[in-house]
Order: sequence, then structure tokens, then C-alpha cells
Amino acid sequence: MRYAVLASGNGSNFEAIITASKRGQIPGTLALVFSDQPEAFVLQRAQAHQVPATSFTVKEKGGKQAYEAALLALLKAEKIDYLVLAGYMRIIGPELIAAFPSRIINIHPSLLPAFPGLHGIADAFKYGVKVTGVTVHFVDQGVDTGPIIAQQAVTIGKLDTLDTLEEKIHQVEHRLYPAVLQQLFAEK
Ligand code: GAR
Repeated sequence: MRYAVLASGNGSNFEAIITASKRGQIPGTLALVFSDQPEAFVLQRAQAHQVPATSFTVKEKGGKQAYEAALLALLKAEKIDYLVLAGYMRIIGPELIAAFPSRIINIHPSLLPAFPGLHGIADAFKYGVKVTGVTVHFVDQGVDTGPIIAQQAVTIGKLDTLDTLEEKIHQVEHRLYPAVLQQLFAEK
């Protein structure tokens, strides 16, 4: 079983996944990292771990449809079975979803359905909720919707700032995502 990580930025979740994978904790092969942002730090992380990595932009491909078609062709050529989204900040198009039915997994930094979108941590903090968390779910055509696989709560204390909350959320993500993939891929 071969899976690809799709990411747009820092790639700390990719780092957690490849570390667990190298320890033999996640079945299957992390065969590819793809980013829609050529400058994303995740690409450097992939290189450091000797994971094949590539990138192209929507603009380069001349629009969303052509971009998705090129991405699908790449994933097919690399014989990818599962997509693992790790801070991939784009909506997955219908063709990609159809090509990977129940085989696209995402992590989101809130207890969905609360606080979907690009700023899950900051939105929860600003709202003033006392409990937020992390959700891992299958991807459908919505933004941060689709069947939930796992959730873990994170409490927001009086002394928390946005920075300390971000730190807490990321720590939970880096444990939860590898654990969920371990279980999910073991069943395949
Ligand atoms: C993570 O917190 C992830 O949950 C979030 O982006 C961050 C990526 O961090 N994803 C979303 O908000 C998706 N809507 P990373 O690049 O360090 O893994």
C-alpha cells in the first residue's frame, strides 16, 4: 500500500508521520510528498528524509481543473492508494475525490464541525471556547466535512495564549495522526 502526503506549508505533521513510519509504526510506504506551494518547508523536510517530493501550482497549470488533472495523473503514475492531507490548504476537487473513494484523510485543528476552514485554532481561541481539539476525518467535497475517524480534545485554560494553544494542538496532532494512520492502514 502506497500513500502520498499533500501539504502546503511547514510540514510538522509530515515530520511526525515519516518519523513514525521509519520506526515501523505505520504500515505501507510513504511514497510521495506533494505541495501546491513550491516554497513550502515540507518539501525540504521530505528531501531530508529522502522521500520523493514534487510541487506545482494552480497558476502554473493554468487553472484549477488542469491542476487537479495533473495531480491525479501524478498520483496514478506513482501508484498511490491513499492521500494523507497534512496542512493541505486547498479544497480537493470532485475528480480526485471520485478517484480515491474513502481514501483521502485530513487532519483539522478543531473539534469539527466547530471551526472549519483555514484558521481553526485562532477561530476557537477568539470565540472563547474552553475546549477545542483535533479531528481526523475522511474527505468529501465540503470544507473540513466528511466522516470523522478520531477526535481528541484540548482544553483552553485561563493562561493560554494563541501561541500556547497552537503548541498544544500541534502536540496532539503529532501523536494522533500517526496513531490513526497506523490503525487505518493496518486494516488494509
Ligand atoms: C495543522 O495544524 C493542520 O491541522 C492544519 O494545518 C496545520 C499544518 O501544520 N490544517 C488545516 O487547517 C486544514 N483545514 P503542518 O504544516 O506543520 O503540518
